[in-house]
Amino acid sequence: MIRKCLFPAAGYGTRFLPATKAIPKEMLPIVNKPLIQYGVEEAIEAGMDTMAIITGRGKRAIEDHFDISYELESQIQGTSKEHLLHDIRHLVQNYTFTYTRQKQMLGLGHAVLVGRTLIGNEPFGVVLADDLCEGEEKGVLAQMVGLYHKYRCSIVAVMEVPKEQIGKYGVIRGKEIEEGLYMIEDMVEKPNPAEAPSNLAVIGRYILTPDIFDILKDIKPGAGGEIQLTDALKIQAQKGMVIAYRFKGKRFDCGSVEGYVEATNYFFDKLKRDTIKEKKDV
Ligand code: UTP
Repeated sequence: MIRKCLFPAAGYGTRFLPATKAIPKEMLPIVNKPLIQYGVEEAIEAGMDTMAIITGRGKRAIEDHFDISYELESQIQGTSKEHLLHDIRHLVQNYTFTYTRQKQMLGLGHAVLVGRTLIGNEPFGVVLADDLCEGEEKGVLAQMVGLYHKYRCSIVAVMEVPKEQIGKYGVIRGKEIEEGLYMIEDMVEKPNPAEAPSNLAVIGRYILTPDIFDILKDIKPGAGGEIQLTDALKIQAQKGMVIAYRFKGKRFDCGSVEGYVEATNYFFDKLKRDTIKEKKDV
């Protein structure tokens, strides 16, 4: 069983300034729900019950969101708006939320290492909440948990991206072992597009085995002067096995303004369609 999901959420979100000056990027709403809540719901769908969130200075709104607000509850109780709190109440009452702070933002790899105290010695999921995913049939993390039970190694989600954008991502080179499944042979973070080993880019969904922590402890800063998770995964792949999985579904890069607007339009249309369907069914 994979019970825990790590949410590195300590980054500054500079691409969204000034919106992210006092509000965490993970709390920006897509329609009426903050980004991180979509991620938490995806982890729960994948069978996880403990959310381990890496926060930093200025991120307290995340903790308040996954807690009871007595004042709001008493104001809204018995009114026609009460149903709007139904989903978040369910999360708060039924799942565990744990937190630790990353005091210096030294990179995603460092943020994962900081999460070691919350995870311990067991395999775990990782969700970067600014990558908003909608799986086909089931969520992306649930698809990956299914694969973990078969392969018992770290798994990264990948997607094909056009050459001119590949330099923004971690990129893999691998041998296809099943349709859409690659045994990783090499990985590079933010390559020069001309030298990228493939067009398969890593997105913000991972299943990691806990030996990743000891590897991360010894990793030196890489691309952009940051401690890169990609560099640790490359070592893990060389020592044993890491799989890349071309997931089934959509992914919106909500860390960029363009992707955020695209996701907003997509989920607003979806909400409208669901509301029309509900009315018809009544
Ligand atoms: P990003 O680089 O996309 O996020 O990191 P950012 O740094 O917040 O955004 P920009 O580039 O300044 O706009 C990917 C994920 O890793 C987390 C971020 O919160 C995001 O979810 N992260 C990154 C950390 O938790 N700690 C870090 O030191 C770096």
